[in-house]
Amino acid sequence: MKTFVQLTPCLGILAIIVMTVPPAFGATSKSGAKQLFESKCSQCHGPNGKGIAAIHSPNFTSPKWEAEHSDQRIISMITNGEKGTMMPA
Ligand code: HEC
Repeated sequence: MKTFVQLTPCLGILAIIVMTVPPAFGATSKSGAKQLFESKCSQCHGPNGKGIAAIHSPNFTSPKWEAEHSDQRIISMITNGEKGTMMPA
């Protein structure tokens, strides 16, 4: 149960992230957000956003990670990518 409690607010954040991703990803309906994450992000971030240690992608479901990253930072990250890492724009 502990995992579920931790995961719930994170899914909300992920939904916000995916809905704020600009039109680069085409028309996105709310119900398409999960699908979008699965098709565009999960190969690097894992199907549940926990990250993949081998490529150093972060664990979005960690409260520590959330505390260190503002919404603004996350939005800019997704819009522009992160130079010097595998994270694409
Ligand atoms: C090619 C692999 C790859 C794909 C595809 C990918 N990411 Fe990433 N992402 C990464 C890596 C690697 C990092 C860690 C970068 C670093 O070290 O700061 C990262 C970091 C992030 C971060 C955290 C940035 C920070 O401030 O540390 C967010 C948020 C993120 N990705 C969201 C997404 C979303 C949303 C998608 C899908 C639209 C996506 N990523 C697709 C590889 C990827």
